[in-house]
Amino acid sequence: MGRVAGKVALITGAARGQGRSHAVALAAEGADIVAVDLCADIASVPYPLGTEADLAETERLVEKLDRRILAVRADVRDSDAMRDAVDRGLREFGRLDVVVAQAGVAPMGTDQPVRAMLDTVDVNLVGVLNTLHAAVPKLDAGASIIATGSLAAMRPRSGSADPASAGYKFAKQALAHYVHELATALAPLHIRVNAVHPTNTDTQMLHHEGMYRLFRPDLDAPTREQAEAAFPVMNAMPVPYVQPEDISHAVVYLASDESRFVTGMQLRIDAGGYLKVHPYTV
Ligand SMILES: NC(=O)c1ccc[n+]([C@@H]2O[C@H](COP(=O)([O-])OP(=O)(O)OC[C@H]3O[C@@H](n4cnc5c(N)ncnc54)[C@H](O)[C@@H]3O)[C@@H](O)[C@H]2O)c1
Repeated sequence: MGRVAGKVALITGAARGQGRSHAVALAAEGADIVAVDLCADIASVPYPLGTEADLAETERLVEKLDRRILAVRADVRDSDAMRDAVDRGLREFGRLDVVVAQAGVAPMGTDQPVRAMLDTVDVNLVGVLNTLHAAVPKLDAGASIIATGSLAAMRPRSGSADPASAGYKFAKQALAHYVHELATALAPLHIRVNAVHPTNTDTQMLHHEGMYRLFRPDLDAPTREQAEAAFPVMNAMPVPYVQPEDISHAVVYLASDESRFVTGMQLRIDAGGYLKVHPYTV
């Protein structure tokens, strides 16, 4: 028996990166998956997003584990599309137990237009709200919602924040606040809501020129190696980043009944990064 056997989990941003890792980890523990992804680029995002081929690979990996998967191409910014994705999942599997709202963009870079801020908030905050608002009315007691924030939202604001960094921080902070309020509202119904907050994670979101420049403003065209030398500044443990699987362990726990009385949690998987910038508070 797997730790989430018999459950159905809807995951946004499931074509690659952390979303794919969560799909595989939840399937390995017995869940069937509704895998949602845009599978297209966004003009203000200076790195390629997931593709149809990526989403097909997630399908293949889940099916290899003998679990069922419904892949849905949908944009989390489109509330109708998200309601449709939830309905398609319910028609396919007859139930929905877990929602992992984690599609996101990080279009940091120099000379990025204000549009990058608007798109970041649209995907990382409005997209999460669209996902949750489509799903919540369909959930029963015992369901678990997990939203992906970021350690970046917990760090001090830099005075010279570029539009995308400002939008990213705002969206993730608002997401954390919303998780707190939604968890409070849904607790009487035995529906749980938690956030996971990764530090730098080794996915394509981290590995693009704009992000490298953010960490190495001293260099014109930093290489991956030069950026990686600066990445550990985020963390208390001396590592540049964690792996998607490190976040998936938390997601499986929060999705499973092992955490049945855990709600409203802001769970940092951050190699101690929070400790570097915050004093102790109860
Ligand atoms: N990688 C990091 O360093 C890091 C750190 C902290 C938090 N996060 C958060 O983790 C989450 C997952 O990111 P990742 O690291 O796997 O990055 P990623 O870029 O590999 O994956 C993000 C996925 O979301 C999809 N997506 C983007 N916009 C979408 C939209 N409008 N509708 C549907 N799907 C969309 C992309 O196609 C892609 O498949 C994000 O919320 C991100 O902000 C990432």
